[in-house]
Amino acid sequence: MNGFFDIFNDKYNNNVKVVNDIYQDKDMASYYNANSIIIDDLYFYLNNLKSADKVLEIGTGNGRIFTPLFNHGIDMYGIEPAKEMIEHIRPKELSNRVFNISLQDFISKESKIYNKVIIPATSISVFSPQEINLFISKYLDEMPFNQFELLFDFLDINFFKATDSKIYRSKLGEYRVYSANYLKEDKVYFNIYLNNGIEEKIGKSVKYIYTEDIIKNMLLKKNYNIEVTHSNNTTRMIISIKK
Ligand SMILES: C[S@@+](CC[C@H](N)C(=O)[O-])C[C@H]1O[C@@H](n2cnc3c(N)ncnc32)[C@H](O)[C@@H]1O
Repeated sequence: MNGFFDIFNDKYNNNVKVVNDIYQDKDMASYYNANSIIIDDLYFYLNNLKSADKVLEIGTGNGRIFTPLFNHGIDMYGIEPAKEMIEHIRPKELSNRVFNISLQDFISKESKIYNKVIIPATSISVFSPQEINLFISKYLDEMPFNQFELLFDFLDINFFKATDSKIYRSKLGEYRVYSANYLKEDKVYFNIYLNNGIEEKIGKSVKYIYTEDIIKNMLLKKNYNIEVTHSNNTTRMIISIKK
């Protein structure tokens, strides 16, 4: 399985260029920036962060949530492996607070100086259960603080069922873009086709679907406080460590 479906698979079979990582591609990152997903997660994070907190966001992308949180007075830092996404952070000086590394690099550096870590739904879905387990065992379990919180949210399967296989066609200046989410077993394949007037390309991003039970099972053996709320097809969790 190549991870492409419908018209995207036709393009694949017609040898249209395949982009390795859609977040590292200049055009696709610009398109993402212009079409930033509307998710009402800002108030969840704002309500649970204080200006005295030192907060790290995993996968800041273009700063969709990172920038408003910083503007509300939170001491925000971030990690983001895609330079093309960081380029879109405004004002540019704010990108000095975003380290160009991946979650895996971050774990290996063991930089435990943040008292809160956030992972928005758009980012947690790109991590496999193995990667999340690694984060739990190498970062959370070894957290030296008495008080630490991990805050994250994830989209429920109903959201993916409602949008399954629907192709969205849009035009942005010279760009013609088609995109769709394909729900297959426990994963969603986001497919994108972009024509920038000079070349055509396709890309995909595999998203993992999480449920409250999957996450709770991962944390089962540990003595964590788990606070769960639900809102508009989204599950929100706050994991606190009290040693
Ligand atoms: C869908 S974007 C979401 C960006 C931002 N959080 C938002 O809400 O708009 C997912 C981001 O996760 C980043 N990402 C992918 N793999 C990652 C990894 N291994 N570690 C950290 N970030 C990663 C991607 O580069 C991308 O910018």
